[in-house]
Amino acid sequence: MKIQEIDTPALLVDLDAMEHNLACMAGFFADKPAKLRPHFKNHRVISLARRQLEAGAIGMTVSTLREAEILVEHGITEILLANEIAGDLKIRHALEISAYSGLILAVDNASVVRDMGRLSRDRGVGLRVLVDVNLGLDRCGVSNPEAAADLARLAAAEGLQVHGVMGYEGHLQVLKPGPEKNERCRDATGLLLACAEAIRDQGIRAPIVSTGGTGTYYLAGNTPGVTEIQAGTYLVSDTAYVEYGALFRRSLTMLATVVSATDGSAVLDCGLKVISAERGLPCLKGIDGVRLKVLHAVHGLVDCSCSPGCLTVGKHVELWVYYSDGTINLHQKMYGVRGENVEEVFTIER
Ligand SMILES: Cc1ncc(COP(=O)(O)O)c(C=O)c1O
Repeated sequence: MKIQEIDTPALLVDLDAMEHNLACMAGFFADKPAKLRPHFKNHRVISLARRQLEAGAIGMTVSTLREAEILVEHGITEILLANEIAGDLKIRHALEISAYSGLILAVDNASVVRDMGRLSRDRGVGLRVLVDVNLGLDRCGVSNPEAAADLARLAAAEGLQVHGVMGYEGHLQVLKPGPEKNERCRDATGLLLACAEAIRDQGIRAPIVSTGGTGTYYLAGNTPGVTEIQAGTYLVSDTAYVEYGALFRRSLTMLATVVSATDGSAVLDCGLKVISAERGLPCLKGIDGVRLKVLHAVHGLVDCSCSPGCLTVGKHVELWVYYSDGTINLHQKMYGVRGENVEEVFTIER
């Protein structure tokens, strides 16, 4: 199948660029004590997760129990849920998945830890946990080593297996490479390592120190004591990360058709229902001076006053995806293309 035969709007992934990113990240970790545990939430494609594992990843990171369940159903069982869960329903679900996998959960709250202890004793299944540490993103996580040690001690007393710590420095991903970023990442990782130490001082082994994303992997992944990195976006990359200074190649584009045009403007058949504008507006690939002005629900309005008449009705165009997480989430399939050929159609799991 050729790209021109794909019905639009459609999400494309350039396989050369994606494979470059896969190899680049695998190369970085090849000789390091720290390893990659890529975030599955970004692409949610089983065959891509398999490629990441074949390239050296030690398991997958997920953001929901549903994502964990999908991986387990496909035989991928080394999973970190790098996110909090709460309530008996969710904990029971985690216990179900844990019975068939090496699922590790993040915890930052004593009452959830007690609920986990109670339900895992009832069920007779052990639960593995990491203490989540707030590294400055101010989302989830305990805030200091003492709190981390207290929670770990409680978890151990409740019969949970404490495997270590995690912390996601999401607010630092967006900083451009340079001394300020280096220093702030060093401080964030330092706090995480201090929390791991405080837990070990309680006589708890805590072997895992998990952190990092596409914007910080090269800093956290080079820090002694860090054992794994949770980067996700690196594989497909996006315009947001290119603007933050990441060196990965953008591979994701939205294929669209011009459905209406005047001399100075054109309308594309792709809008917010298929491409995210949450963090920034996508731009057109390979057409200089032509600018996407706004996305409506199912239309993209383009200003082509610099090259009047360049977008004629029926023409196919591609838009670089600005925010990959938010865009892939809107699709059920992604066309893997090389040059003009479609090599593979990836199913995006729900
Ligand atoms: C907890 C956690 N870890 C890792 C990541 C991966 O970040 P990225 O996709 O930017 O590499 C995210 C992304 O939001 C996250 O929430």
